[in-house]
Order: sequence, then structure tokens, then C-alpha cells
Amino acid sequence: VSPAPSATAAISSDIKTVLDVLLEAIISSLNIDAASLLLYNPTTNMLIFTVERGFRSQREEKLSISLGKGFAEGLAGGAALERKTRFVPDINKISQKLIRKWLISEEDFVSYFGVPLFVKGNLKGVLEIFHRTMLNPDREWLDFLDALAGQTAIAIDSAQVNEGLRRANLDLTLAYDATIEGWSRAMDLRDRDTEDHTKRVTDLTLRLARQMGIKNDDLVHIRRGCLLHDIGKLGVPNEILLKPAKLTDEEWIIMRQHPQMAFDMISPIEYLRPALDIPFCHHEKWDGTGYPRGLKAGQIPLSARIFAVVDVWDALQSDRPYRNAWKREEVLEYIRSLSGSHFDPLVVQQFLDIMNQ
Ligand code: C2E
Ligand code: SIN
Ligand code: SIN
Ligand code: FE
Repeated sequence: VSPAPSATAAISSDIKTVLDVLLEAIISSLNIDAASLLLYNPTTNMLIFTVERGFRSQREEKLSISLGKGFAEGLAGGAALERKTRFVPDINKISQKLIRKWLISEEDFVSYFGVPLFVKGNLKGVLEIFHRTMLNPDREWLDFLDALAGQTAIAIDSAQVNEGLRRANLDLTLAYDATIEGWSRAMDLRDRDTEDHTKRVTDLTLRLARQMGIKNDDLVHIRRGCLLHDIGKLGVPNEILLKPAKLTDEEWIIMRQHPQMAFDMISPIEYLRPALDIPFCHHEKWDGTGYPRGLKAGQIPLSARIFAVVDVWDALQSDRPYRNAWKREEVLEYIRSLSGSHFDPLVVQQFLDIMNQ
């Protein structure tokens, strides 16, 4: 009889990449210095340090915390045992109790959050948040942390279910897709005014793509590409993304890197590689004046030409920190006026057909 695979041993390197991107999303959304994820192994009753972001030092030995007596006083251990978020505004005040003395000595961390992750009452792990100055979070930030922790728990759960399925040689698609939907919701939440933007542009892009004759498998990749279209904005700091004014030249340089950042984040994940066209090419323009590569006309993948129209359509009808929403008629006129310069004329025509229906 072979032993049952443990929950954490079931984490493959592909899943680690996925969790890594999720941590990046959490760090940039909450504007914090570092985060780590400990996964719970129910067989051994241990929390195992699995991924981390924002730490200065690379540690050889990985922390595992046994959830036994005594750990109710711990950070991650306490959060898991008590099933509630542990906030330590200043870990220097409890330095003698810390097992990981290096959190202070090497990392200079001050504030700590340990958020236990549950799915349907089962412990999945602990999300740890670290900041090098004192955090003084408001209600909104705390709600946001809660929402992100919920998404993380679901992502871990799907990843584990997914790995179980892989073992049985079944399709992984469902669990993976649940994971990217989690990322995509986290991204929309960060840019509050664009909440639901992703869902709307995904639905409309798929409709337009179908109308233009794109089929089956290609639609699956387009859907994932839409969900992830602005994932590269995770690399854009809040000061720029949420700036309530026009961007300076320097800020534009950073903002314009978001398609390349999307490429760098997604291309290591094999099953998402066919979905890269939209995240990488949605700011190219028909006349070659777009970014990041200045592609022209048919050099731009069709899915990205379609998405570009829908993205601008939806963006302009939403409030942004730097301007109010435009009216529907104004946006339609604007899109019409850019046919052949910004946009593929054929796509604009088909788009206007849908709008007139
Ligand atoms: P986004 O808000 O999702 O906008 C996507 C695209 O919609 C823009 O790509 C642009 O083609 C169009 N669009 C959005 N808002 C406007 C607008 O007010 N006027 C016009 N004419 N077109 C608009 P683009 O320009 O490459 O911008 C990429 C991203 O850069 C935007 O994504 C947004 O996150 C950011 N951004 C653009 N302009 C500003 C700004 O003035 N201030 C700040 N804080 N961010 C900006
Ligand atoms: C393990 O497999 O138990 C180590 C942690 C991980 O890679 O998930
Ligand atoms: C814990 O996180 O529960 C113990 C580890 C520590 O105190 O650093
Ligand atoms: Fe974009």
C-alpha cells in the first residue's frame, strides 16, 4: 500500500509559478513589502513555507511549522490554530518569542499579518504579509486583504484538486481556469473603478470574435487572454496606476511596459502561452504607432486587434482616477474616427454592426 500523496507534496513547479504570480498580485495590490505562503499538509499537520516574494535574503532551510501545542502563540501557527487573522503592528515587541529571528535581524520587518486560508472549513494554508514600516490599515484595506486571501485559498484548492486530477490523467483545464479567474478578479479589485471591466471586455470580445469566424480552441485561448490582458499592470506601482492626473513622460515609460511584463510573467506557464497574444499585443495600433513593438496591420494577431477595440470601448465608458466616463455616443464616434489608424477597419465595422443590433 503506497501512502496517500500529501497536500503539499502535490504542489508541482507549474503550480508554484501560479502561486508566485498570485503573491506578486497581492504585494502590488496591497502596496506591501513582502508576502509568503505556507501550505497546510493535513497528513503531517504541518504548515510548509512554499512561495515568497519581496524578501532580501534567500533562505536555505525552508520553514515548516508543526501545528501542535504551543503554536497558538506563534505567528502563522497562531493564525491557523485560532482560525483568525493575526495582526502584529510591530514584531519587535514580541522579538523574544519569534522563531524566525531573521524576520527582524535580516529583513527589518515591522508589521505582520498572518491570514489563515480556508476553503469550505478546511485549512489550506496561511498567507503572511510583511511591511518594513508600521502598517495602519483602514477598513477598506482590511476588506481587500480578506478578498485577496479568499482568492488565494481558492487558487490553492484548485491547484491541489488539479494535481489530484492530473494523477488520474484527467483534464486540468477547470482548475487552472478557476485560478486565472481569481487573478483577474484580484486585478480588477486593485483598480477599483475598473471593477467588472475584465468580465465585460471578455464577454464582448468573445462575441465579436465569434462573429468574425474564430472557433473553438482559439476562443478558449482568447478568453484566457482577455482575463489576463492587463496582468502586466501588476508591475506598475500604485502611484502611477491610480494617479488622478495625466502621466509624465517617465511614468508613461513604466506604464507602457505592461504588455512586456505580461509576456515575461505568462510565457513560463505552458498552458497559457497560446493565450499571450492579447496581453502582449493589445496596445499595438493598425498604423504601427502602438507599443510595445510597433507592429502594423496584419502583423498584429487578429485576437489583439479585436480586443483593442473592445478595451477602449469599455475603458472610455468607465470612470478613471484621471477622468470621468464618456457617453456611449461619444465613444462610438471616437472608435469610428480611429478606424484605419488605431484600429483594424474590418474589426471596427463588425463592432459597429454588433452595437447597432
Ligand atoms: P486603460 O484605462 O485600461 O485604457 C485602455 C486604453 O483605452 C488606453 O490605452 C487608450 O487607448 C484608451 N483610453 C483610456 N482612457 C482614455 C482617455 O482618457 N482618452 C483617450 N483618448 N483614450 C483613452 P493607453 O493609452 O495605451 O493606456 C494604457 C493604460 O495607461 C490605461 O489603461 C491606464 O491604466 C493608463 N493611463 C493612460 N492614460 C493615463 C493617465 O492620464 N493617467 C493615469 N493615471 N493613467 C493613465
Ligand atoms: C513539499 O513538497 O512538501 C515541499 C513544499 C512544496 O514544494 O510544495
Ligand atoms: C509561527 O509563525 O507560528 C512561528 C514562526 C515564528 O515565530 O517566526
Ligand atoms: Fe492594457
